[in-house]
Amino acid sequence: MVLLLFIKYNLKSFLFLFLLNTLYFFFIINSSFSSNQKDSITFFKKGIAIYKKANCSSCHFWHADGGNSHGGSAASLRSTDLSHKDLLRVIKCGRPGTNMPYFSRFAKKDLDCEYIDSIDKLVLRGARLLNDNEIKILTKFIYDEIKSKPITKKYCLEFFKTKSACNKYNH
Ligand code: HEC
Repeated sequence: MVLLLFIKYNLKSFLFLFLLNTLYFFFIINSSFSSNQKDSITFFKKGIAIYKKANCSSCHFWHADGGNSHGGSAASLRSTDLSHKDLLRVIKCGRPGTNMPYFSRFAKKDLDCEYIDSIDKLVLRGARLLNDNEIKILTKFIYDEIKSKPITKKYCLEFFKTKSACNKYNH
């Protein structure tokens, strides 16, 4: 009888602990998932905000798919095959002899841009320069969310902030 009670009691506490543990795990996984999700939404918003701030869209258009603009024929950032490192370099230092300006506030001192002797003569200057952190976020954004990706409704909505501009995108 005592033994039975003992087992019963233990089983109960075992079940209780088991339940507690499961809940705990569920909570941890769930909260880390939602914080990851939050991070990626913030990253997406920041990427577009910097793209707009630097006015990349004046040449590469809002959709970043390039085309003919006042800056000549601007490359599509969606079909670019540049590596992450090369994207970073082009955005920081511009491309000498073309209409692609440099955007780093520190381009003249940046070792990555050393191929530009006299940066002001050979390369256009971006209308609004960016700091290293902004360039880092923008480059990662283009590499992760633009390169080899179609124009999405999510992107359109974040860019224009109005639904009517994005009706033609289903997802
Ligand atoms: C004044 C117009 C203009 C602006 C503003 C501009 N670009 Fe460009 N960009 C160009 C042109 C033109 C090219 C093509 C250069 C060439 O012929 O090689 C180019 C090329 C690029 C490339 C190289 C793509 C490849 O596959 O070779 C990247 C990356 C790029 N631009 C990113 C940006 C970003 C990011 C911004 C904003 C921070 C920006 N550009 C702003 C005109 C512009």
